[in-house]
Amino acid sequence: MCGIIGYVGASTSGRGLDVALEALRRLQYRGYDSAGIVAANQDGLSHVKRAGKLEVLEAQLEAEPLPAASAVIGHTRWATHGGPTDVNAHPHLSEDGSVAVVHNGILENHAQLRRELTEAGVKFVSETDTEVAAHLLAHAYAAQGDLTDAMTSVVQRLEGAFTLLAVAADNPHVVVGARRTSPLVVGLGEGENFLGSDVAAFVAQTTSALELGQDQVATITPDSVTITDFDGNLAEAKPFTVDWDASAAVKGGFATFMDKEIHDEPNAVRDTLLGRTTGPGGALQLDELRIDESVLRSVDKIVVIACGTAAYAGHVAKYAIEHWCRVPVEVELAHEFRYRDPVVTEKTLVVAISQSGETMDTIMAVRHAREQGAKVVAVVNTMGSTIARESDAALYTHAGPEVAVASTKAFLAQIAATYLLGLYLAQLRGTMFADEVRTVLAELETMPAKIQSVIDGEGDIKALADSMRDVTSVLYLGRHVGFPVAMEGALKLKELAYIHAEGFAAGELKHGPIALIEDGQAVFVVVPSPRGRDVLHDKVLSNIQEIRARGARTLVVAEEGDTAVTEYADKVLWVPRTPTLLAPLVAVVPLQIFACALATAKGLDVDQPRNLAKSVTVE
Ligand code: F6R
Repeated sequence: MCGIIGYVGASTSGRGLDVALEALRRLQYRGYDSAGIVAANQDGLSHVKRAGKLEVLEAQLEAEPLPAASAVIGHTRWATHGGPTDVNAHPHLSEDGSVAVVHNGILENHAQLRRELTEAGVKFVSETDTEVAAHLLAHAYAAQGDLTDAMTSVVQRLEGAFTLLAVAADNPHVVVGARRTSPLVVGLGEGENFLGSDVAAFVAQTTSALELGQDQVATITPDSVTITDFDGNLAEAKPFTVDWDASAAVKGGFATFMDKEIHDEPNAVRDTLLGRTTGPGGALQLDELRIDESVLRSVDKIVVIACGTAAYAGHVAKYAIEHWCRVPVEVELAHEFRYRDPVVTEKTLVVAISQSGETMDTIMAVRHAREQGAKVVAVVNTMGSTIARESDAALYTHAGPEVAVASTKAFLAQIAATYLLGLYLAQLRGTMFADEVRTVLAELETMPAKIQSVIDGEGDIKALADSMRDVTSVLYLGRHVGFPVAMEGALKLKELAYIHAEGFAAGELKHGPIALIEDGQAVFVVVPSPRGRDVLHDKVLSNIQEIRARGARTLVVAEEGDTAVTEYADKVLWVPRTPTLLAPLVAVVPLQIFACALATAKGLDVDQPRNLAKSVTVE
């Protein structure tokens, strides 16, 4: 859950520091409670680290610049062991200052290693698990004289999940990285190379990259990259090209990344659909789905595994995939999945949804599913990420980099991608006729423009948010696909505005939650389209009347032209007419805009909400 950058270049200059700072800015979404940098040149190592957001480190570097360097490693932290203090911030140096390390993950045997090192006379200065790696590495380096060999021997002693980067004071032309379970990718430059926790770290410098496998060590110099396994044997790494536009990871005139990413949503959906409807006769073609068609035909159950917002995308997908494919779909929180002894067989298709592709709970669930013989399709946004690599097939969402911690555009892209998967399976299994598939695809293609029209009406939603800045509790109701939308709306408000919010199935109201309704209680209600599923529409309308009669302030998300709702709504947020199954793609947008605007009105940091990190790489 931390961000890591490593740089090595041919000359000793300020470039390494600039690259590292730029990378830390882009990686802040992975952690932002402290940051640090170490610069290596012919005079040895110099470092600075500070608790607080990156600006604190930047101000320090402005006041006291580090010397020009040929190798630099940097870190932005989300604290696990030891609070966010200057001392606990990374890098961690060995006692003699011969090596410096930065680390992402958790060293599970750190207590035992700390005891051993302490007994051997090492003095620890921080409370972190990472510091043991610095001391072990210094001892190994002194004994072996080669940083890669030293790293290889140290990682043998470490348990848990980790990415480690190291530099040595006496060799400023090398950075060594190692990964077990936590992510690490290599960026390939001209006369310079990079290591990053993900491609966002170096996408502004190069789009040429290498995926590292599990338990690999990468040694980068200005003109070479060497990959070995943990036993020191040469190993392969898969090259890939990053298709993110570097400018996508900057705010581009918006006040916050979140605001920008909501405005990116039409493109996120458009790009996710792009090029996937090019089969013969307009048939849906998913080239990446490299799983034998006979296996896909024999699937008798689909299990979606994901966490948080990605899991809500899975809940939405369940309604569509069951309807189109006539296959039961279960949606399971990844962290519950593997501890529950789930019934998974060779006929189960597991769909792992993840924006980052690095969520540890989801990675562990993917591994468990594959051990049981299931095929796993990853619906992932980040190329080269662990979940994409470890799955049988990866269906990428093309949302571009999502920097704000709270997920928005990735959610829409996940719904679009899982819908493509559902339609593809329906086409393959013959549960939908080709023209039916084409009709849904054509409707999906109209969605970016509809999403745009909701965004164009954001002024009204922002004004509502502004008027509600003192609210202390908001409820969200939805039915059918509107139910996961309600839960997602509530999650956005909790995490961005720190307001108590709950999403309920509207039908559940009378079984308990209605007791929460009192005078003035704000309730968002996601109303299904009156066309198509009119029974649902009328039932939700009754729910609105029930809560209004008990004093609720009803904020209704409804389809344009649905005049039946106006009578019962204190405020209507209109969304364009959309077939029921596709409605989440527009209905969630006002809820995202509302949460973002309310948090902004309260003066909160919407991009980096308290206590959260974007990529939860610990279980
Ligand atoms: C909420 C949010 C989280 C993530 C969850 C899964 O706004 O962003 O709930 O959706 O942590 O993350 P990924 O999709 O990276 O696996």
